[in-house]
Amino acid sequence: MTGLFPTHPALKKLKPMTISYWNGRYLPLDEVHVSPLDRGFLFADGLYEVTAAYNGRLFEPEAHIARLQRGMASLRIDTGLSAGDWLAIMERLAADSGIAGDLTVYLQVTRGAAASRGHGFPAGVAPSVFGMTSPLKRPPAAWREQGVAAITIPDIRWLRCDLKSIALLGSVLAQQAATDAGVVDAIQLRDGVVTEGAATNVFVVKDGAVATPANDSRILEGITRTVILRLAAEHGLALEERDVAAAELDAADEIWIASTTKEITPVTRLNGKPVGTGAPGPVWRRLFPLFAERLGR
Ligand SMILES: Cc1ncc(COP(=O)(O)O)c(C=O)c1O
Repeated sequence: MTGLFPTHPALKKLKPMTISYWNGRYLPLDEVHVSPLDRGFLFADGLYEVTAAYNGRLFEPEAHIARLQRGMASLRIDTGLSAGDWLAIMERLAADSGIAGDLTVYLQVTRGAAASRGHGFPAGVAPSVFGMTSPLKRPPAAWREQGVAAITIPDIRWLRCDLKSIALLGSVLAQQAATDAGVVDAIQLRDGVVTEGAATNVFVVKDGAVATPANDSRILEGITRTVILRLAAEHGLALEERDVAAAELDAADEIWIASTTKEITPVTRLNGKPVGTGAPGPVWRRLFPLFAERLGR
């Protein structure tokens, strides 16, 4: 049993993350050993997913699995795992997590560890598949009551943002820019249009109509975004996917950021100025309860 609870002082903090998945086996996190030749480590040659589970129920797992499978197909990484296999891994990790409340299941696939370092795809190398769980801290109630502040920054990332790549330095720098500015998110701008937050999709509302950047390689097709599109269609909310000019942020009545961990959060201050009235707006107030109901809240 000793392996179940990490003994190294640095690993102790990871409790209660106990059971993880590593290449076909379920084992304690501290028993996972990754080769320094793993291409995830050397090249960030891999993809990941973060799926929430509320009251023991995974939220939209099929959509997360489908996105992972699309990404892997695009990168020619073949784990041999079916959608059903992925779901079984996620369900087992969630069930055996030892976490009492809501949680996230993290999945990561890399191209694996080749015998030597070289940029091109190596032949005959098995991908590395990893999974773990973490407690999920839901956004604080204050975010829903007052909204959050954000800044805008230039989008310095690459042009395959449709891939949920583990090469996250662009997102790391964007999040740190937000943290340094004392705000929750940094909305990124490329060529005069909005792309995404540090790890969120962005929505703007003007005169009751919602707009969000179109789904192309400049953004990640967020699962939360997809749920919002679905809810808008079901409830007759005007929502357009199109280029959103940076200037539309300044004129917006409402701005929202959306992701698995940030849910749908109203941005009520941008670059130090109030957005609309400076309070969560009526379109968000109409949409959010519909979304919360989907989460099982
Ligand atoms: C760059 C980026 N955009 C959008 C999202 C939102 O995606 P999802 O709703 O699937 O969590 C994320 C989530 O991590 C992200 O990293």
